[in-house]
Amino acid sequence: MKPHIPVLLNQVIAGLQVAAGKRYIDATFGGGGHAREIERRGGKVLGIDTDPDTDAVHGNFRDIKKIAQENGFSKVSGILFDLGVSSHQLDTPERGFSYRFTNAPLDLRMDQSKGETAAQLINRLPESELYDIFVRYAEEELARPIAHAIYRARAVKPIETTGDLVKIIGNRPGVLSRIFQALRIAVNDEFGALKEGLAGAEELLEQEGRLVVLTFHSLEDRIVKKFLERSGFRRITKKPIVATQEEKELNPRARSAKLRIGEKL
Ligand SMILES: C[S@@+](CC[C@H](N)C(=O)[O-])C[C@H]1O[C@@H](n2cnc3c(N)ncnc32)[C@H](O)[C@@H]1O
Repeated sequence: MKPHIPVLLNQVIAGLQVAAGKRYIDATFGGGGHAREIERRGGKVLGIDTDPDTDAVHGNFRDIKKIAQENGFSKVSGILFDLGVSSHQLDTPERGFSYRFTNAPLDLRMDQSKGETAAQLINRLPESELYDIFVRYAEEELARPIAHAIYRARAVKPIETTGDLVKIIGNRPGVLSRIFQALRIAVNDEFGALKEGLAGAEELLEQEGRLVVLTFHSLEDRIVKKFLERSGFRRITKKPIVATQEEKELNPRARSAKLRIGEKL
């Protein structure tokens, strides 16, 4: 299994202005790549992750304020969000995050301890709402025929595995990755959680504290951009920072990464 390589590591650390003895929250701990580097430089880190299969405090960052207070991190110098899924999650077949493993349950929950799976969602929602999800979260051109094909297929037999969905959509990697992404965003209410998480983070930051957010989806980036424009932040990045060609070649996850940094006023 490939280890998770932290994206834009140096830029994240510089953005957080990591200094010894100061406190930071890593709201998306994952494999702990960024958090370990903060600690190596003497920072104290509270790691949070919604996935119980990590070494972080288990919780959704939409509750960041409560989690931070419970763990004695009610005022901090920097908060990091590195959104999306980790390589570990993508490479674990039974999580259902990847269409590459065709025999996996169609789950896609980051927190498998609660909520509806993608299979339950896809078998329950009306065709029009599936269409909406594919358009809204993936801007998928084939949203209508795919929603219809799902509607017809599930009338014959419920959709249960990643393979069931791949069969319906066909072997089209681009379409498959967009449809899986759209389902993942819906199942985990990723945009709702992000908006609440950013608002909570603003309250936890001390004056001149840094908010550092790595996104991998254009709509996510838009949420972050708007948030930094209208709330009490000085924008450190007017344009998002992206990875160099070299980093993109080394780490394919870095290809779509956008990094935005704000400083609390
Ligand atoms: C890209 S990975 C983070 C990788 C990490 N920075 C590293 O270097 O190892 C994203 C992580 O965020 C977690 N996550 C996603 N949405 C979350 C949420 N709403 N609350 C808490 N954690 C979340 C995922 O479970 C995943 O482990």
